[in-house]
Amino acid sequence: MTQPVVGRYPCALRVLHWLLALMLVVQFALGFGVEYGAQRLSEALLPLHFKLGVLILGLTVLRLCLRLVLPMPAVDTGEPPGLRRARSWVHGLLYLLALALPISGHVIWVWMGADRTLFVGLEVPALFVPPDDETGRALAWYVHVYGAWILLGLVCLHALAAIFRQWTRGDDFIARRMGFRKVAQGESST
Ligand code: HEM
Ligand code: HEM
Repeated sequence: MTQPVVGRYPCALRVLHWLLALMLVVQFALGFGVEYGAQRLSEALLPLHFKLGVLILGLTVLRLCLRLVLPMPAVDTGEPPGLRRARSWVHGLLYLLALALPISGHVIWVWMGADRTLFVGLEVPALFVPPDDETGRALAWYVHVYGAWILLGLVCLHALAAIFRQWTRGDDFIARRMGFRKVAQGESST
């Protein structure tokens, strides 16, 4: 039986996909280390968590801009529309949370009055002056903490779905769509 051709994302988006995936995994480890580690460890990890978070925000914005201008591979027409819609939603939520986490983290950070130096001589602007009423801080905290758990869940779901799809179709889907190895892009047969 022949299967539809699986197109590949542009190189810049593939590089950013794997780079950001790696950075997010490290960022989760730092975040949970900050939250559940001993006080001295937590203090040492927090500035790294801040710097990496700002970098993730910048690269996610770049990725979204490139996504708008670069040609995207055709959608897989051999898939039920409901499943296609579900995948688009998960991808959209992954992007949304990859933006919401650094932004809410920044709000908490400014409220903490912590050092916003990114590198020597480069400081992230505060963008607001924290008011006396701390409702905004509490809101940002809820977004950050619950958002982190939701993002973690969605990342696992996303990775498992990609692996499951490759396994059931036996068409090297992940490498064809997001990989760098040379693969024949013609029709694949099972
Ligand atoms: C932190 C981890 C990850 C994040 C945040 C993430 C995020 C994303 C996003 C947002 C997209 C949609 C790209 C777009 O259309 O603009 C995507 C696509 C994709 N990801 Fe991931 N990903 C992660 C890890 C993984 C892993 C571990 C795998 C493989 C097991 C994987 C395989 C894929 C594949 C194959 C696609 C293309 C899906 C398609 O076009 O139908 N991703 N990823
Ligand atoms: C995509 C980027 C980010 C991810 C995935 C992330 C993830 C996490 C995680 C998993 C935690 C522990 C949550 C828990 O209590 O269970 C955490 C805590 C924290 N993060 Fe982030 N974070 C990100 C960006 C940032 C940024 C940019 C900042 C600062 C500017 C920041 C500041 C903080 C702070 C201050 C805490 C401790 C919150 C508390 O008081 O409990 N985060 N983060």
